[in-house]
Amino acid sequence: MTIIPPVRISVIGCGYLGAVHAASLAKLGHQVIGVDVDPVRLAALEAGRAPFFEPGFDTLLAEVSATGRLRFTGSMAEIADCELHFLCVGTPQKPGSGEADLSYVDAAVRALRDILASPDIASAVVAGKSTVPVGTAERLADFFADSGANVALVWNPEFLREGFAVQDTLEPDRIVYGLAPGEAGRRGAAALDEAYAPILHRGTPKIETDWATAELVKVAANSFLATKISFINAMSEVCDATGGDVLALARAIGLDERIGPKFLRAGVGFGGGCLPKDIRAFAARATALGASGVAALLTPVDAVNRRARDRMVDLIAESVGWVVSPGSVGQSQSAEGNHPSEAGLQPESNPPRLAVLGAAFKPDSDDTRDSPALDVARRLAALGADVHVYDPAAGSIVSRLTPELTVAQSLSEAAEGAQALIVLTEWREFIDLDPDSVTPLVARRVMIDGRSALPAARWRDAGWDFRGPGRP
Ligand code: UGA
Repeated sequence: MTIIPPVRISVIGCGYLGAVHAASLAKLGHQVIGVDVDPVRLAALEAGRAPFFEPGFDTLLAEVSATGRLRFTGSMAEIADCELHFLCVGTPQKPGSGEADLSYVDAAVRALRDILASPDIASAVVAGKSTVPVGTAERLADFFADSGANVALVWNPEFLREGFAVQDTLEPDRIVYGLAPGEAGRRGAAALDEAYAPILHRGTPKIETDWATAELVKVAANSFLATKISFINAMSEVCDATGGDVLALARAIGLDERIGPKFLRAGVGFGGGCLPKDIRAFAARATALGASGVAALLTPVDAVNRRARDRMVDLIAESVGWVVSPGSVGQSQSAEGNHPSEAGLQPESNPPRLAVLGAAFKPDSDDTRDSPALDVARRLAALGADVHVYDPAAGSIVSRLTPELTVAQSLSEAAEGAQALIVLTEWREFIDLDPDSVTPLVARRVMIDGRSALPAARWRDAGWDFRGPGRP
């Protein structure tokens, strides 16, 4: 058996990506220190508690905290003796533009440069994991070089999914290194090879390339996934127009292995802290570079995705016989098309009581950033509906962010007196729900599956009016 020497590693930025990365590296045997500026997040991590909902993360954190190999700090000075530094800070969307906001990356790199430029530090390897516009790694490498710090910069994109973050980090399907030319590239690759040794020894594919390609791999992957989802949502629209069944269509095309069955679930569309902002930032960056084909492809992908939310509001209104017409409330952000809700909806009759099941942008997460479920719930409330939201993990976040919504503590509480149950995040609890268990609670037996996740026949057999985008 090969003995792998532990590496002294810092992880700068301890959000979903950084915190899980730090704990996973400690699990692999390394000595890891996580740095963050948020005192609440740090306090939780220092106490061995996950600051967000992520299956398996609490257990991993407790396990590695007990080994003494993982600690957290608010002070960059404490990472001076690390050999390898991972940059894991966020790159959100700039307000009012599609571009990425690199201020957290730049601040982290400035602070790191101040440490690494010290004459006491002979050299270090910095590995960027944040999702950045192509060209960023080259700019950051120049910045380190100008400061006199001897830094080998690697771009090492991350592909973890929320809800599977621990598994995706410890068992990734590929590892990508974007390397500097020459000796710095070899040094960067060697440091990452040591850090990931147990993963690489299992035969995980490793792709060594240049900085630009590594940066592009990340945004290209997310753009492809977003395109697949918008593709199937566009198909669901034509199914609605023709009586076709988007589930059968997705299954049939997905069996072609060139297409594949995943990310073909029609519904209320994609959200979260990654896909929406990444496609916008990629389109903006590519346009600035004169590569206009990217925006030509991704701008409609974004528009179809936003349209999925409009269509959901319309489907809900129609399903409960709630008459709404173009007006000024519930304004959609959608930029194209002539769908009624794109001009905003105005309620005309009896606003219904509705049970929205799900608020997180996906199941097994409490993340509500750009969540389609929460957006639709808010729009329904803005139109005057009495919206009761239940989410197994995101309830307290929803109470804090959206006082206009009533947050239920259980599915039954949300369902009480509802004119429709609307599944907008496909938590297992909702997929497995027994129609007979909620029949006595609701005012009307209407189930709207906004995620193509529920067994339609089971609900119809129980006497429910079952609907969803692209479902006959
Ligand atoms: C996404 C990518 O899948 C990860 O590989 C990537 O590392 C990550 O972004 C990132 O850039 O950090 P994540 O945002 O966790 O991961 O979520 P996904 O599983 O990709 O789902 C994104 C959205 O698409 C969710 O709102 C989900 O409900 C929706 N979706 C997914 C659909 O509407 N239909 C589908 O068939 C699949």
